[in-house]
Parts: sequence; structure tokens; C-alpha cells
Amino acid sequence: MTSFAGEYAGRRVFVTGHTGFKGAWLTAWLLRLGAEVCGYSIDIPTSPSLFEQCGLEANIGHHVGDIRDTDHMSRVIAAFRPEVVIHMAAQAVVSASYTDPLDTISVNVLGTASVLQALRSVTWPCAAVIVASDKCYENVEQIWGYREIDALGGKDVYSASKGAAEIVFGSFARSFFASGDGPVRLASARAGNVIGGGDWAKDRIVADCIRAWSQGEMVNLRRPHSVRPWQHVLEPLSGYLTLAAALRTRPQLSGQSFNFGPAPDRPRPVMELLTDLAKAYGHPRLDQAFRQLPEPPFPEAGLLTLNCEKARIELGWAAALNFAETVQMTGDWYRKETATPAAALQLVNDQIQAYEDMHNAREIIQ
Ligand SMILES: NC(=O)c1ccc[n+]([C@@H]2O[C@H](COP(=O)([O-])OP(=O)(O)OC[C@H]3O[C@@H](n4cnc5c(N)ncnc54)[C@H](O)[C@@H]3O)[C@@H](O)[C@H]2O)c1
Repeated sequence: MTSFAGEYAGRRVFVTGHTGFKGAWLTAWLLRLGAEVCGYSIDIPTSPSLFEQCGLEANIGHHVGDIRDTDHMSRVIAAFRPEVVIHMAAQAVVSASYTDPLDTISVNVLGTASVLQALRSVTWPCAAVIVASDKCYENVEQIWGYREIDALGGKDVYSASKGAAEIVFGSFARSFFASGDGPVRLASARAGNVIGGGDWAKDRIVADCIRAWSQGEMVNLRRPHSVRPWQHVLEPLSGYLTLAAALRTRPQLSGQSFNFGPAPDRPRPVMELLTDLAKAYGHPRLDQAFRQLPEPPFPEAGLLTLNCEKARIELGWAAALNFAETVQMTGDWYRKETATPAAALQLVNDQIQAYEDMHNAREIIQ
């Protein structure tokens, strides 16, 4: 089950974006599963950084490079000969897409095209998961969750870059990897907003809160009533690992896209997330935790949810955590890390173990 039945023990896994928030959690999880990890990222994007806090560099092949440098990345891939590729490198901060829209389009669209181009020179069996976002859908603010067959789009540049990357993925899949008969099988994975310990990115709501609360300050909320498919970072990561394992044995999955979102539940607005997070973090005064900005600095979608039936039916994957558990785990991590920063890796490993236990108990992943 969630230990993936030995699927990753001794497996060579190439991860782009391994120094980011999701990348650090994924790297730590893969190492626990016994995989050999080779990471490729342009930088260590934050300070502090979960990747550094956990000391992950010492236990992997750590490569600094730009995913748009196809030749360099191809050489790293050829030397490592990965059996699994998980492409997560991106300009993944929405506010930065307003500051430098061309960079966001370049990294997310051309960067994904470059990874796909590099995969064309792979001549050995390899399963690749291209990580996308729930924001790739044309958001019509509907109450129903988006399905994989819904229209792609993007009203803002970050969303458009993710929608465009998905179109590029589909075109490469059909043009160069059709039928899954070749050595490379690939699928894309669309996940919602993730939260969890160790996200230190700028302008991400949980990271902003922890930074402010640890200094005794209030947080300015852009859109307290916006609803997002909040999920713990381990949920989509379990989806990516499940999808890559399935691709290895089921060629018919190649070229497809899958949503990985939270369990169907009442959609939760930012305000509810933060009230519960403040309690889990141990904030002494909830009335001092946040306030609403009079004017949001940039437009953002109000409502966005995902339908994950396809992942459940085709992959046997479903989210393991409910909203309360998701927020509690996140608050716990930051509260304990604030008290003992050196315990970051232990906290990550403890939460991965707890997550695997919950998956086992709920018999979600076959
Ligand atoms: N965090 C979320 O809520 C969320 C939600 C949905 C989808 N995603 C997607 O998941 C993936 C990972 O997100 P994250 O939150 O870990 O992001 P992050 O910002 O924490 O990390 C980004 C990573 O990409 C690397 N990177 C950026 N530009 C690069 C380039 N040109 N070449 C090589 N590496 C580069 C960075 O060094 C870093 O390792 C992204 O594709 C993101 O769009 C994230």
C-alpha cells in the first residue's frame, strides 16, 4: 500500500524542483522508500528552506541547472538513467507571475516542453509524471469539481502558464510518446493548493501566517472568502508516486491526465483554514491573528474545486486526510519546528509515517 509495496526500493528517481516545498517532502519520502534520488533545480528558492533544514543534499545526487537548458538536463538524465521522472520544477508563486509574467511563462511552458524534449532521448523503460495544477482549468467559478476532460484555460498568467503547459504535455504525448509502446510512458498530474509544514515561499498563505505569527504580527489577508481544494502536501505526492508506479505496468495510462485533490467535503474558505491553523499552531489570541486587506493586490479565483473520481477508479487512489487532520498536521509541524528548528527532518519523517499509517488503516491505496 502506501509503502508502495517495495515499488520504490532501489528505484532510480529523477526529480525536478527537488529543492522546493513539494520537492523536499518528495525527496524525503523517496529516501525513506529506499529510492536513489537525483534532483535537478535552478536554486534553493527560499530561506529558510525545508530542503536545507532536512539536510537532503547529502543523500542524493544534487544538480543545479535550469530546466530550459535541455542539453545540460539531458546529460544529467543520461548519466543517471532514471526509471521514474517526476517533473515539478516551476515558477510556482502566483504573485511572482504578476511581477514577471514572461519568466513564469518561460519556466512553466518552455521549461515543461524542455523536460518533455529531454525525455525523447530516453531509450530505457521510464515512467514520467508531469506535475501540473488545478489552475490549468478554465475557471468558470462552478460549484462542481473540474474533471480531466474539462476545458483548459487561465485568466491570470500563472493559471495560463499551467494550462498552456498541459496543452504542450498533451501535444508531446500524442506526437512523440503515442500508445505507450516506447520506453517512456508519461502522464500529467493536476493537484490543488497544498499546505504542510516547511513551506517558506513568499505570498503563500500558510507560510505568510507562520512568518507573521512567529514574530507576534498580524497577517494581511488578500481574499478571506476564497475557496480552494486545500490538501496536505503528502496527498498529491502519494498521487504522483501511485501514478508513476501504475504507468510502469499499464501502458494505456500513458498520455493521460489525473486530478489529485482532497476528499469531497464542504469547500473551505481561507478564513476557516486560518482560524483552524492558528489554533493548531497554538496562537494565543485568535482576534490578533489576521485582518483583511481593504483591496486585494491582484485578482484571484474565488472558487476552485477538483473532481478526483478518475484517480479513484483508474488508480485506486483517494485522499487519506480530512480537512481537520490536514490543518492539524500543518499546524503541528510548524509549532514543533518553531520550538526545535533542528528537528525538521524528524518532523517530516514522523508525519510521513503517520500518513502511511492512516492510508493503511483506511485501505485507500491498493
Ligand atoms: N504549492 C502549491 O500549492 C501547488 C499547487 C498546485 C500545483 N503545484 C505545482 O507543484 C510543483 C511544485 O510546487 P512547489 O510548491 O514545490 O514550488 P516551489 O516554488 O516551492 O519550488 C519550485 C522548484 O522549482 C525549481 N525551479 C524553478 N525554476 C526553475 C528552472 N527554471 N529550472 C530548474 N528548476 C527551477 C526551484 O529551484 C524549486 O526547486 C510546481 O509545478 C507547482 O506549480 C504547487
